[in-house]
Amino acid sequence: MAGFTVDVHLDGRGVLDTIGEDVRRGLSAPRKFLYPKYFYDAHGSQLFEQITELPEYYPTRTELAILCAERENILRRAAPHEMLELGSGASTKVRTLLDGRPDPATPARYVAFDVSESIVREAGEDLVRSYPGLEVHGVIGDFERHLGTIPPAEGRRLVLFLGGTIGNLEREERQAFLCQVRDLLSWGDFLLLGADLVKDVDVLEAAYNDSAGVSADFSRNVLSVINYALHADFDLSLWRHRAHWNANAARIEMHLYARSAHSIRIVDLDMTVDFAEGESIWTESSHKFTRETASAMLEAAGMTLDTWYTDDREYFGLVLARAT
Ligand code: AVJ
Repeated sequence: MAGFTVDVHLDGRGVLDTIGEDVRRGLSAPRKFLYPKYFYDAHGSQLFEQITELPEYYPTRTELAILCAERENILRRAAPHEMLELGSGASTKVRTLLDGRPDPATPARYVAFDVSESIVREAGEDLVRSYPGLEVHGVIGDFERHLGTIPPAEGRRLVLFLGGTIGNLEREERQAFLCQVRDLLSWGDFLLLGADLVKDVDVLEAAYNDSAGVSADFSRNVLSVINYALHADFDLSLWRHRAHWNANAARIEMHLYARSAHSIRIVDLDMTVDFAEGESIWTESSHKFTRETASAMLEAAGMTLDTWYTDDREYFGLVLARAT
């Protein structure tokens, strides 16, 4: 049945449901931290879009080039009856795949899972208009709480988790997440995973410390989100952004550093937080992989690396994995 339907599992504040507890925990810790999922309000999403267009930020355009070059191979190999995209956003990447279908009747269904209802609704309406005969189903939820609400597959499934978002998760969270993804697959179904790769430190650090300062604005925006959501009074001009490559942990670590000692007040949490000069808030990690580490994390979650797609500089990996 072609058409567009949506299930909503997030109410009122959506992703902001848990911001109070998360900010309390993160800002009372001896080494202060916040979670990157709170970057993406309307302004933060706009800033991220700008990041993807920066000359230094190679991941988005590299992934898209691989997807475009390999789409027929991917679709032939995975032969999906349906595609399920986790974190589908505006569903632009799936268009690249749909435009390259060897057979226009398959996949017959696209399921889009995302936190933002308005974006999924708009994307869904556009997709059914562009691809007559395609059934589109939206599921509005949060990765941590609602993967279990995704309706069962109607045939062979290809799960898409693109953009390198897997890199935001810490090791244990990542394995737990991949096991949940495995539960969405039947034996022989596929996952297409976008993973940014370990490379020259200068290339990596430049991608997260761009010369136009967009990455810095993007990081500081999480403070605006907290100001708005929890009635806090962070002064963004007192914070400097810096990203560092941690080779042992194979990740870029992003921090905001206080330019001077000061305190802030968070009214909704009835909390005051003191910062020393130079003290940091760890805002985000972006893990980088190799073919070997990607293969190992998939094996540990009941999947196996089937095909490895990359660009000629080997900057980004698109991994086609099969459920075993
Ligand atoms: C959306 C998680 C893939 O890690 O490259 C970009 C986010 N943060 N610049 C990344 C991000 C700062 C991005 N991911």
